[in-house]
Amino acid sequence: MEEFVLGWIGDPPAKVLEVGCGKGELARALARAGHSVIAIDPRAPEQAPEGPVFRRERIEEFCELGPFDHVVASLSLHHVEDLGMALGKVADLLRAEGTLVVVEFAWDRIDEATAEWVLERLPAASPSEKPSWLRRCCRGWTRGDEGGMCDHGGHTEAHFAGWAGEEGLHDSQRVRAELQRHFVERHFEWVPYLYPDLADGVSEADESVAIEVEAINATAFRYVGTPAP
Ligand SMILES: C[S@@+](CC[C@H](N)C(=O)[O-])C[C@H]1O[C@@H](n2cnc3c(N)ncnc32)[C@H](O)[C@@H]1O
Repeated sequence: MEEFVLGWIGDPPAKVLEVGCGKGELARALARAGHSVIAIDPRAPEQAPEGPVFRRERIEEFCELGPFDHVVASLSLHHVEDLGMALGKVADLLRAEGTLVVVEFAWDRIDEATAEWVLERLPAASPSEKPSWLRRCCRGWTRGDEGGMCDHGGHTEAHFAGWAGEEGLHDSQRVRAELQRHFVERHFEWVPYLYPDLADGVSEADESVAIEVEAINATAFRYVGTPAP
């Protein structure tokens, strides 16, 4: 992901805004590469990264003047409450040929085959550790079914939509529609996403092969756009 983002941003120095920086790894990598970075995220103070590039705020309230050369959003847009307003603001903050570089989760593409593939590869549960987001999101799908599979039929879609609703997450169609409304697409690809939360030994290559042979769906995408004229 870091390589993808740094590749699109190119040679330093560029003025970059990161939306939803989380713990700040990507923002630090961009700053190390010589870019001028502002990284925003509203997370709680005890979880917020420290340093001059970080600000505790939501994109909806961000009021720094542009133009930025690039805006980066890694796995954050599906969390942004007022997504249409936020992407309109991002488009306004970018210079005319500036790029929005996005990595996004597509939970709505977890169909029955993908969920089964995940369940067969989840690491052993540890009573002392908090379950991963992936275990939590699949848990309800197997409710009342601790010992084996049951017939999930058309309930799979409803289950994951219910989980995402509780988490307040947009689906990938909504995110893509809002991107299309404000940006011209320059790059799009579906990519693997689940392997980091699966058992040791399940690699990115394993997930890529399963996607290629259409055993499962890709559940993330990479996107690059420039502001719509
Ligand atoms: C799944 S985390 C991704 C963190 C990091 N970018 C990464 O790739 O690991 C989503 C982040 O988006 C942030 N976020 C949620 N709503 C936001 C908003 N309206 N504006 C900016 N960031 C937001 C959350 O606080 C959270 O840290």
